[in-house]
Amino acid sequence: MFPKINFTKTEAYRNLTQHFGSLFGPYSNGFKDLRQLFAADPARFEKFSIAFEDILLDYSKNRINEETKVLLVQLAKECGLADAIEAMFAGERINVTENRPVLHTALRNQSEKPVFVDGKDVMPDVRRVLAQMKTFTAKIISGEWKGYTGKEITDVVNIGIGGSDLGPVMVTEALKAYKTRLNVHFVSNVDGTHIAETLKTVDPETTLFLIASKTFTTQETMANAHTAKDWFLSKGGSQGDVAKHFAALSTNTEAVKAFGIDPQNMFEFWDWVGGRYSLWSAIGLSISLAIGFDNFEELLKGASDADEHFRTSAFEENIPVILALLGIWYNNFFQAESHAILPYDQYLHRFAAYFQQGDMESNGKYIDRNGEVVNYQTGPIIWGEPGTNGQHAFYQLIHQGTKLIPCDFIAPANSLNPIGNHHQLLLSNFFAQTEALMNGKTEQEVVTELKKAGKSELQIEELKAYKVFEGNRPTNSILLKKMTPRTLGRLIALYEHKIFVQGVIWNIYSFDQWGVELGKQLANQILPELGDNNPVTSHDSSTNGLINTYKSWRI
Ligand code: F6P
Repeated sequence: MFPKINFTKTEAYRNLTQHFGSLFGPYSNGFKDLRQLFAADPARFEKFSIAFEDILLDYSKNRINEETKVLLVQLAKECGLADAIEAMFAGERINVTENRPVLHTALRNQSEKPVFVDGKDVMPDVRRVLAQMKTFTAKIISGEWKGYTGKEITDVVNIGIGGSDLGPVMVTEALKAYKTRLNVHFVSNVDGTHIAETLKTVDPETTLFLIASKTFTTQETMANAHTAKDWFLSKGGSQGDVAKHFAALSTNTEAVKAFGIDPQNMFEFWDWVGGRYSLWSAIGLSISLAIGFDNFEELLKGASDADEHFRTSAFEENIPVILALLGIWYNNFFQAESHAILPYDQYLHRFAAYFQQGDMESNGKYIDRNGEVVNYQTGPIIWGEPGTNGQHAFYQLIHQGTKLIPCDFIAPANSLNPIGNHHQLLLSNFFAQTEALMNGKTEQEVVTELKKAGKSELQIEELKAYKVFEGNRPTNSILLKKMTPRTLGRLIALYEHKIFVQGVIWNIYSFDQWGVELGKQLANQILPELGDNNPVTSHDSSTNGLINTYKSWRI
């Protein structure tokens, strides 16, 4: 049974509120800051870290003590998290507003256990499509599959947006070191520049287009797909050659056929796979082509490891649960507005962007599972860039700004490109930043430093306030042994489940996305109005003014 509990009405929430007040409220004795907590307890790292396979989560640099953890875990229990987890894995229709189960976990199920939807085991279909992807990948990579002039495929262009783009882009970038001979490109934006610039770099005789769309109706993807087909036909390919150069990844067989793609070239998935959770499905075909099917399978196995960890570990030792509860602690008690994901790994440069959709499209909701407007904060703003670039851009605000920004720092212990001492330089920054955020720099330390630098008393007096760092800024550190497909699969699935846990506790439906509909509807209404040069009057004065200026300016 999927629970519908308002978490602010639980006993654990009441206790947490009191606990928060006693630590941080106006009448508290003052929270011992992180620096003092570490000084008082040499075992803090052991107490607040979790090792899972080749991933270590250190969450000791958070504003928590043992009681905080007990109460947060109690909150998860009172909110029915255990039932919710079982409901998801068992294929209950927990995506209530779309009346669908949520079974991306079935896509990576490595066990022999069946997964039922309406009494039917979905695993044979999952395995059938995986086998189809395997065969297809082998044919393309080996060169057995030929284009319309008899040449091997050299380039793959994935056309999709949102969940049909961000996951494959993120993973193919993260696993670039495992690249096959194929060059994989991604076109998502309806801005013609995106497809135009991509088409400039590929040859129609050797290019395979993957039209990736769950619904096969998304405006951006369909526009780009038609442009790609027109380009292919204009470059000498015939209608009959389309089958050699176009494949579809979709749930919508009819629309795929209507587009003119051979059903043989359709890789199916199902409505119980959410768009932003679909990289494990046929949507992952671009990944399989980019890194080979065996590596794609390793990715699935990694996610399956994380599923097992999530489903079977006690909440106290459960990485997604702990990450989610810490997020709730900052979001709902400290009123933190955002959460930064900061990978110290260039390969993970799209990781934060990927989880912007994963998290914000899932938990950006204000109606709870009882149909009521919530009176508490739900999903945070997710953002981030790789370190060390971020350090030279926005870290100033994290260190000395007025906003509390909990951060996840992620780094691999081993580089896939061990050049000189680059990796030690990178990791020294990774370790230093969380230490600096925690410890800060006291006035005394600043004064000593300035004295050493030969500054006068007056100069020290003028400068010192600017150079003090309050510290006590919370971070999680996630250390990976090495970036492999399996490790990446684990990491992604841990974050997916974190989002799920938060949605359960916030009592919202995490698997719909009605919030993106209104803009789409209005764009469809406005599109025909842009077809002539007549001024429009049908909107508010701002929108009319903008449209009419555009019409008068366009050449
Ligand atoms: O942005 C809304 C959305 O529905 C996402 O959830 C989805 O990932 C994306 O559009 C693309 O949808 P489709 O795969 O159906 O083209």
